[in-house]
Amino acid sequence: MRGRFITLEGGEGSGKTTQAALLGKALAAAGMKVHVVRSPGGTAVAEKLRSILKTREPGEELTPETELLLFGACHSQMVETLLKPELEQGIHVISDRFFDSTKVYQGYARGIDLRMLDEINRFSCRGLKPDLTIVLDLDPELGVRRSSGRVDRAAFENDRFDSETIAFHTAVRNGFLQLAELEKDRIRVISAEDSVDKVAQAVRECVKHELGLELL
Ligand code: TMP
Repeated sequence: MRGRFITLEGGEGSGKTTQAALLGKALAAAGMKVHVVRSPGGTAVAEKLRSILKTREPGEELTPETELLLFGACHSQMVETLLKPELEQGIHVISDRFFDSTKVYQGYARGIDLRMLDEINRFSCRGLKPDLTIVLDLDPELGVRRSSGRVDRAAFENDRFDSETIAFHTAVRNGFLQLAELEKDRIRVISAEDSVDKVAQAVRECVKHELGLELL
């Protein structure tokens, strides 16, 4: 059987990385083959692109177009070298972010034309879509407080996304909620305000219900 492709999405500090790892453990505990990855990243080349995308380069700003095309490049690498072969081998893949982040960050938040983003996502992902996407929804003020508390001040300010304005993070939150409205069959929203354990339980229930996977 082909593996299922599950993505976790949401703003900064919404707990995607923790929840992706916990969901991975739950699938593994139920005897399934599972790989937890992140975007941007997941392959050696995409991890190199990640550091260009995440970190400020003194004296040179990335243009929004460069940013978009680098995310597209990351997704293309991930689809061909990781996702397609693993899903075909029956491995379930959980990704901490994927192409919905492109639509939301580069589109709803940076203002690039949404239809063009659909085209670029289709092109870079060869039409591959997640079987299920879970948006972890959180008040951006709380999310930014959580993520700024995780790293030192310099690392936070050097991160091109974490250090964006609250208006930007609010546009990101609203973008994910709009996408969820537009793609009700694929995207589910779960509140990330509860404790880690409660959110993890809600994520497991959602995966069981939507994909019919037998989890404990
Ligand atoms: P994170 O892995 O720490 O969440 O950092 C990834 C950052 O990249 C995050 O701020 C969201 C951003 N991003 C985009 O802007 N577009 C994309 O397509 C993806 C995958 C991530």
